[in-house]
Amino acid sequence: MKIKKIKINAKTPYDVIIGKGILSDLAAELPENLGKTAVIITDNNVLPLYEPVVRKSLKEAGFSVISYTFESGEKHKTPKELIKILNFLADNKVTRSDFIIALGGGIVGDMAGFAAGVYLRGIKYVQVPTTFLAAVDSSVGGKTAVNLNAGKNLAGMFYQPAITICDTDTFKTLDDITFADGVSEAVKHGFILDEAFFRKLQSRTREEYMNEIVEIVARNVEIKGRIVEADEFEQGKRQLLNFGHTAAHAIEKCTDHAVSHGQAVATGMVIMARAAYKKGFCNADFSMEIKEAFSGFKSIFDTDITAEEMAEAALSDKKRSGEKINIVIPESIGNCVIKQIEVSELLEIFKLGLEK
Ligand code: GLY
Repeated sequence: MKIKKIKINAKTPYDVIIGKGILSDLAAELPENLGKTAVIITDNNVLPLYEPVVRKSLKEAGFSVISYTFESGEKHKTPKELIKILNFLADNKVTRSDFIIALGGGIVGDMAGFAAGVYLRGIKYVQVPTTFLAAVDSSVGGKTAVNLNAGKNLAGMFYQPAITICDTDTFKTLDDITFADGVSEAVKHGFILDEAFFRKLQSRTREEYMNEIVEIVARNVEIKGRIVEADEFEQGKRQLLNFGHTAAHAIEKCTDHAVSHGQAVATGMVIMARAAYKKGFCNADFSMEIKEAFSGFKSIFDTDITAEEMAEAALSDKKRSGEKINIVIPESIGNCVIKQIEVSELLEIFKLGLEK
């Protein structure tokens, strides 16, 4: 069995383990002294698919196991749901000698991680991503959050897991749009920092991704991990990971999340690459190459949201600071930079990016 292990040297270091079919022996990968009781936090989609196999492995290894399930979907990533999780932990007398397993996609990981961070001022947790998107992005780097009415991920904390364990076989049960959500973040990692990796991913179909999925997830985790090590708390370089995300969060907000995160990121990257060229921030328009990276998937790049609507949605986002905003723009493929612009310039950038 092919297993890759990548160390993330954050303030509290941890391993990311990636392999095919490793869920059934999950307990064997856990670090020692995690605790006595494992609290599996998952959603109603993942529950029937993977909770039983994880529970069995934990029980056989001698852990007590309890589970908490919430309804899947971005609209449940709320402070209200977080409080329900915290009350469940308290009602079940979970202590600092116990730990959480975040079993699912990014929403589960973000909420379970946040619950772990604040419950009893912090208990350990394990990220077990079951989507391609969570595997290459949210399960690594310790960002946890819930959404507020004003925008996505506005309440949260940096809180690193004790370990991340990714079984790439779980991606087989994803629908095509959810699989393509992971493609967006993988393509993004190549585009911002590793041209050879970006080229390697060009025009792949889902089947071609799955043929090399352990290596592809591992390369993503390496790229993201090195950024997190350099700037865990997003004071500088980590902002590169937000390439396309200001536009993406605005699209998600304007469509009430009918457009998935990955589709919004793919569209956001195209908008920012096109606008960067038209504004003279770079010498070439890379938007077509970004589009080509998704030719194996039915991603939606066209949006009927106006630049005005997007700018209004974006400016309530947390990346606004005073009258300036940081955006990420390409200088070349594999070499993106952070640029500070006036808040008032964002509307023009969205306009230029949305024009064909
Ligand atoms: N998803 C971007 C980050 O973790 O910083």
